Amino acid sequence: RSLHSAVSRRSSHVARRGYATEPVPERKVAILGAAGGIGQPLSLLLKLNPLVSSLSLYDIGGTPGVAADVSHINTRSEVVGYQGEEQLGKALEGADVVIIPAGVPRKPGMTRDDLFNINAGIVKSLAAAIAKYAPHALVNIISNPVNSTVPIAAEVFKKAGTYDEKRLFGVTTLDVVRAKTFYAGKAKVPVAEVNVPVVGGHAGITILPLFSQATPQANLDDDVIQALTKRTQDGGTEVVEAKAGKGSATLSMAYAGAYFADACLKGLNGVPDVVEPSFVQSNVTELPFFASKVRLGKNGVEEVFGLGALSDYEKQGLENLKAELESSIEKGIKFANQ
Ligand code: NAD
Ligand code: LMR
Repeated sequence: RSLHSAVSRRSSHVARRGYATEPVPERKVAILGAAGGIGQPLSLLLKLNPLVSSLSLYDIGGTPGVAADVSHINTRSEVVGYQGEEQLGKALEGADVVIIPAGVPRKPGMTRDDLFNINAGIVKSLAAAIAKYAPHALVNIISNPVNSTVPIAAEVFKKAGTYDEKRLFGVTTLDVVRAKTFYAGKAKVPVAEVNVPVVGGHAGITILPLFSQATPQANLDDDVIQALTKRTQDGGTEVVEAKAGKGSATLSMAYAGAYFADACLKGLNGVPDVVEPSFVQSNVTELPFFASKVRLGKNGVEEVFGLGALSDYEKQGLENLKAELESSIEKGIKFANQ
């Protein structure tokens, strides 16, 4: 056992796959809400990621079991479970990336905004702990309503004097994952080759997939594009209804969350040209936060990309989403400051 751990400790500095001696940096990832529907498969997927050396699993309950379970997997990272607020500081200390899937999910008939009353407070208190214990971490917020929880975290960080707009992300990757899947089905192209930017926010009409920029290109009819757009916007509701009261997307979200965290880690490690859409502080429109393509680097956001050329249908979609997105952002800012 001691030989095994000596080898695995060293393995972060040895050549990987026989290539030159490029070191893989030590990286700690903390998941807040790790025992939940998203948290558990997300913990699993991050345990499989060789860029992670330390995996910190925090929840108000249930993490000792999840951590014991996941820790038996023979991959690089050390896994530690933390349970209850008194252990939150330890869970966060030294984290490079903090992922937050803590909070209640929707049931049929609810909007994401209906989760605000409970989740806003959860995100506010977790953000306060991050400001204290992991002020330099990249923070990936999954908890809904993302259009409000990201501005809440920003306000908490501002008050604590730790806000850096380059380090705060709303995770909109599931919208991208869905847009790619649905587009590949209609365009009859290999899904692994598909790229579709999704911009705006993460709720209903604020989710704006830009199918006019999708690659590989396909000449889809307008009514097909409109149906694809609607299905992407309603993807979350599709899952909520299919689960019929047992929550919302967890498995596809865990995939999307692990994918985005991996992009953040690659950026931190200096991998060039890591570009993913995310809901970030933005000058792309008049709104203070907006999802668009972002280049990830050693400091988090290196560049926020503009929207590129839009079809008339997308231009209209952009105008239609602004009022709702603005009021969700303002609601978050107001809550954080009251
Ligand atoms: P869940 O109820 O299964 O799990 C939530 C977990 O959060 C639970 O384990 C709970 O104990 C924990 N938790 C609650 N308060 C906490 C606190 N103060 N600190 C730490 N942990 C706490 O829910 P889920 O299905 O995993 O969904 C979680 C959230 O993610 C929901 O708000 C949901 O709407 C959102 N979500 C977002 C996306 C997205 O695309 N951004 C996708 C799916 C779900
Ligand atoms: C999703 O898009 O699946 C999540 O935001 C969960 C939800 O409530 O739809």
